Amino acid sequence: MEQNKFYVLPKLSYDYKDLAPHMSEEQLTIHHSKHHQAYVNGANAILQKLDKARKENADIDVKSTLKDLSWNIGGHLLHSLFWGNLAPPSKGGGKPAGVLGDALAKEFGSFERFQKEFSQAAASVEGSGWGALSYCRQTNRPIIMQIEKHNTNVYPMFRILMVIDVFEHAYYIDYKNNRGKFIEAFWNIVNWNAVNNRLEELLKH
Ligand SMILES: [Fe+2]
Repeated sequence: MEQNKFYVLPKLSYDYKDLAPHMSEEQLTIHHSKHHQAYVNGANAILQKLDKARKENADIDVKSTLKDLSWNIGGHLLHSLFWGNLAPPSKGGGKPAGVLGDALAKEFGSFERFQKEFSQAAASVEGSGWGALSYCRQTNRPIIMQIEKHNTNVYPMFRILMVIDVFEHAYYIDYKNNRGKFIEAFWNIVNWNAVNNRLEELLKH
C-alpha cells in the first residue's frame, strides 16, 4: 500500500492512561486503536476499491460507495481533531485564554454561557454524532454545530476548532449510557491551547 495515498491512524501526543480518570485507559485504548482504526481501514478499503474499478473500467454503485467513503473519512478526520483537542487533566481544562478566550467571551457573553450551550448541543445530538465549535470567517463569529453521524448539519467550509465525540462508543465503558456525565468530564481534559492555536492559524489566512 502506498502510504501517502492512504489514511494513517495518527499517534496521540499522550499515553492511553493519561486522560484518566475522565477518560479511562481502557476506553481510550479501544476508542483509538479499534474504533478510529476501523474508519481508517474502511476509508482505505474504499479507495482501493475505487482504484481497482477505475483501472478495470468496471461499474460501481457510486451512491453507496460515496456514502461509505464519507462515513469513514468523516470519522477519521473528526477523531483526529478530537484527539488533538484533548490533554491530560494536569494540562487541560480550565478556561481558554488568547484570541479564543476573547472570541468566546464576545460571542457568548461569558465562557460559562459558551460551555453551557456547547454541553447542551453535545447532549442533544440525535443518535450518534459530535458537538463541534466552529468559526465563520464571513462574520467572525464562533458557531456551535451539531454533527449527526459524521456529516449532517455541518456548515460547509466552516473550520472546526474543537469537537466532542458523543457516539456511545466514546463513553460506554466509563459512563455506560450517561452521555451527560461524559460531557461534564470532557471539560476537564480540553486542551485549550490547541483549540486557541487552531483559531490563531485560521485567522492568519
Ligand atoms: Fe468515536
